[in-house]
Amino acid sequence: MPGELTMDKLVSLCKRRGFVFQSSEVYGGIGGFWDYGPMGVQLKENIKRAWWKAVVQERPDVVGIDAAIVMNPRVWEASGHIDTFADPMVDCKGCKRRFRADELLEGKHEAESVHGRPIAEAKLGACPECGGELTAPRMFNLMFRTYVGPVEDDASVAYLRPETAQGIFVNFDNVLTSVRKKLPFGIAQVGKAFRNEITPGNFIFRDREFEQMEIEFFVHPGTDEEWHERWIEERFNWWLNLGIRKRKLELREHAAEELSHYSKRTVDIEYEFPFAGFAEIEGIANRTDFDLRRHAEYSGRELTYFDEEKGEHVVPYVIEPSAGVDRAFLTFLIDAYAEEEVRDETRVVLRLHRSLAPVQAAVLPLSRNERLVPPAQQVWELLRPHFMTQYDDAQSIGRRYRRQDEIGTPYCVTVDFDTLKDQDVTIRDRDSMEQARVPIANLIKLLGEKLQK
Ligand code: GLY
Repeated sequence: MPGELTMDKLVSLCKRRGFVFQSSEVYGGIGGFWDYGPMGVQLKENIKRAWWKAVVQERPDVVGIDAAIVMNPRVWEASGHIDTFADPMVDCKGCKRRFRADELLEGKHEAESVHGRPIAEAKLGACPECGGELTAPRMFNLMFRTYVGPVEDDASVAYLRPETAQGIFVNFDNVLTSVRKKLPFGIAQVGKAFRNEITPGNFIFRDREFEQMEIEFFVHPGTDEEWHERWIEERFNWWLNLGIRKRKLELREHAAEELSHYSKRTVDIEYEFPFAGFAEIEGIANRTDFDLRRHAEYSGRELTYFDEEKGEHVVPYVIEPSAGVDRAFLTFLIDAYAEEEVRDETRVVLRLHRSLAPVQAAVLPLSRNERLVPPAQQVWELLRPHFMTQYDDAQSIGRRYRRQDEIGTPYCVTVDFDTLKDQDVTIRDRDSMEQARVPIANLIKLLGEKLQK
């Protein structure tokens, strides 16, 4: 019988098929950093594009930005990250391993056990690895520090941004005056962020270098709660529209004690991961006017919006939908993964949404017969400008279908001996495995319709 998806299976599929590799693997890797292979980079790109399309292209009220990763360090004083962006850390006096104290103590939204030992034991203060004594918790700031320029002193310290959001807040006025938007309006950004996590883990679920997709949506004070609800619904539907099963999703309200320092209310969209239970894939926060006020205070610049109707300057409130690209990647992969029995064989198939699949169509000659390869190559050439494609003529046609199933290719186009006579090819559907003959002349139009381009 087909089995359950385990983390080992997923990591192995990701490596075998070119989705994700350990960073600098030949040197033994480096914890919390991952490289995306030929299939991975395309899936990631498609996720970002689907997000951008939904939140920028299709909306009249959101524009994009791409800010620098390294910013003036005063940004992080104003934002509160220098003072408060820290996790409690404990060290084991015996084996010297380091843990996040909150994970050991609460185990909230983490596995029921820590490295196979019940959390209750961790509560007693013993190291979950070796049973040794733990130090008292200390706060550890998660921002990566670096130096700008040749001199390494306090004056040249800078940080790799831990969230893309601040690049938006400090550009609020630039965007407002350059594109003349009226409230409510949003600024969206996709970009790298860095957090020196104490315990990265679960593959690409929690990594130290990752990408975020964030919107800061500026609204009139007093309308923030209503806009918060609208964005929760909007973002929940985005995941559903890209094929995530509804029963695997839930909304979770943050308790008062877990709210970030800037948040009035936060609701997480959570996905039920096979290895971690329900865990956050996107947070939608009401950041109030905290960030704009703080940047105005620290920079001395006025960061307000002039309300023409009321004839007064207001500091907008902000609703922030914030999702991680890498976590979205993991979510889409896990949700798409299926194993099924087909003619006494196990077929592994990624039922990725057609707009996310890294390869949209594969061109496969029935065999490497010298009469079939040239027309198959011609079909491939015909499709390349229009779709992400792959050409494969190695091994049996059955094995090649399986390879395409494993990377989630929605359509395979097969060239056989009949093609030489009638100029028709076979299109095979990934999910139903049904096959249909179509004229080469109609192929681009047909595939385009199927992929809903
Ligand atoms: N901007 C919110 C976050 O990075 O968690």
